[in-house]
Amino acid sequence: MNIPVLEKGVILIVDDNPHNLEVLSEALIDTGWEILIAVNGEGAIAQAEYACPDIILLDVMMPGIDGFTACQRLKLNPLTCDIPIIFMTALSETVDKVKGLSLGAVDYITKPFEYEEVLARIKTHLQIRNLTKELKTHNQQLKQEIADRLAVETKLEKLTQELEQRVEERTSQLSQALDNLQQAQVSLIQQEKMSTLGELIAGIAHEINNPVNFILGNLSHASEYTQNLIDLFQLYQQYYPNPEVEIEQKIDEIDIDFLIQDFPKIISSMYKGTKRLAQMIYSLRHFSRRDDSVVEPIDIHEGIDCTLLILQYRLKANSERTEIQIIKDYGTVPLVECFPGPLNQVFMNLLANAIDAIEESFVTRRNSAANFPKIAASGVHLSSLQNNGQITIRTGVDEQRSVVVIQIADNGIGMTEEVKQRLSEPMFTTKPVGKGTGLGLSISRQIIEEKHGGTLWLVSEPGQGTEFCIEIPLLSQKA
Ligand SMILES: Nc1ncnc2c1ncn2[C@@H]1O[C@H](COP(=O)(O)OP(=O)(O)OP(=O)(O)O)[C@@H](O)[C@H]1O
Ligand SMILES: [Mg+2]
Repeated sequence: MNIPVLEKGVILIVDDNPHNLEVLSEALIDTGWEILIAVNGEGAIAQAEYACPDIILLDVMMPGIDGFTACQRLKLNPLTCDIPIIFMTALSETVDKVKGLSLGAVDYITKPFEYEEVLARIKTHLQIRNLTKELKTHNQQLKQEIADRLAVETKLEKLTQELEQRVEERTSQLSQALDNLQQAQVSLIQQEKMSTLGELIAGIAHEINNPVNFILGNLSHASEYTQNLIDLFQLYQQYYPNPEVEIEQKIDEIDIDFLIQDFPKIISSMYKGTKRLAQMIYSLRHFSRRDDSVVEPIDIHEGIDCTLLILQYRLKANSERTEIQIIKDYGTVPLVECFPGPLNQVFMNLLANAIDAIEESFVTRRNSAANFPKIAASGVHLSSLQNNGQITIRTGVDEQRSVVVIQIADNGIGMTEEVKQRLSEPMFTTKPVGKGTGLGLSISRQIIEEKHGGTLWLVSEPGQGTEFCIEIPLLSQKA
């Protein structure tokens, strides 16, 4: 900061003695300072308020209010409290100097005045005063700057918050869009999978249906004709007990007694087999009902049974495991308004998963038995190996909540916490490539929740098994 040798300033001299006033004024006239004068305390206060001088030279002993009192009032007044006051006193007693300083004066000069001293003190205090003023201005500028910066910062913070919120909104919109896309993909795949599979099954079932019905229809005639022929032969035997040698030979050759006994049995087992074939075709046609946009009152037990019949080949014993047992615990369930095709697909997905889980538990048990032959030898794993795979299907109605409940429980491998948590991800699978697409549960959940307004949930323990529970409202809430 550049401090001039002689500061500019306005000096107020307060003294009741005109001689003193004159001496001082003359002494200071050449300094360039503006000189104001007052002859008493009241005058000094009025002038100070009005002209706001840079320094007040204040006499102590004055008629009316004395210098100390004037000083006190000036210091209490917000307009004048900052003006430096220098006392002028003939008193050189320390107490008076201390009193003056304690009242807020910055300095004192003693009478008679030493010109050089007065000048030096005023100069110093003017410098201090100007510096203080500059500092104050600077301070105010700084404060303003800080306030401006704070305002900018607040604005920035607000903008950042707005931006963050927008990013958050956008992210959630995007993730929603992604979810929708994945769901749409799942639906598309489901539709495609179903339509191709459905068409194939429906086509095959249709083609097989006619010849099977033809065989079935003719088998009853065949049975009747056979019986007639046997009756006729027996009549011949009765009336012609001694036939020609050639006939005797043929009778021995074909072991006629066994043939008569066995032929009806063969016809009957052919009838049973064909009947079963017809049932299977009925199941296939029932399962692949294409129209999934119409709600119909259906017997869910029939849907489950058809699905089981189609899965029959997977339940049978094989080289890896014993037969999977199906325990049906069907309650009394009314016809339920459902989309039959999609609902059958859910049964198929859950039952196929249950079979997979049981097969996997056999593999795991076999592996651990192979890895720990000692334990296996102790019979621990061998006994569990003999545990048959079991799928329990329970149905019923929860009257209070007005829902049909279908539980499908298996004693398979079960699920770990991690698997359970990841089930909501479409295409999540623990099965090898080619075996699982990871779509079964997402599709099933979509069918139950979105199409039927129901719920699908599960309970599972690793090594113990899994239970899926489907709940479908009895009152129509279907899509
Ligand atoms: N009953 C169950 N017991 C144990 N784990 C199961 C069971 N059901 C499903 N899981 C687990 O959930 C995963 C996802 O099942 P989901 O049916 O969706 O697909 P996936 O069976 O792997 O393939 P797919 O599309 O052929 O059905 C399975 O890979 C399996 O890890
Ligand atoms: Mg599956």
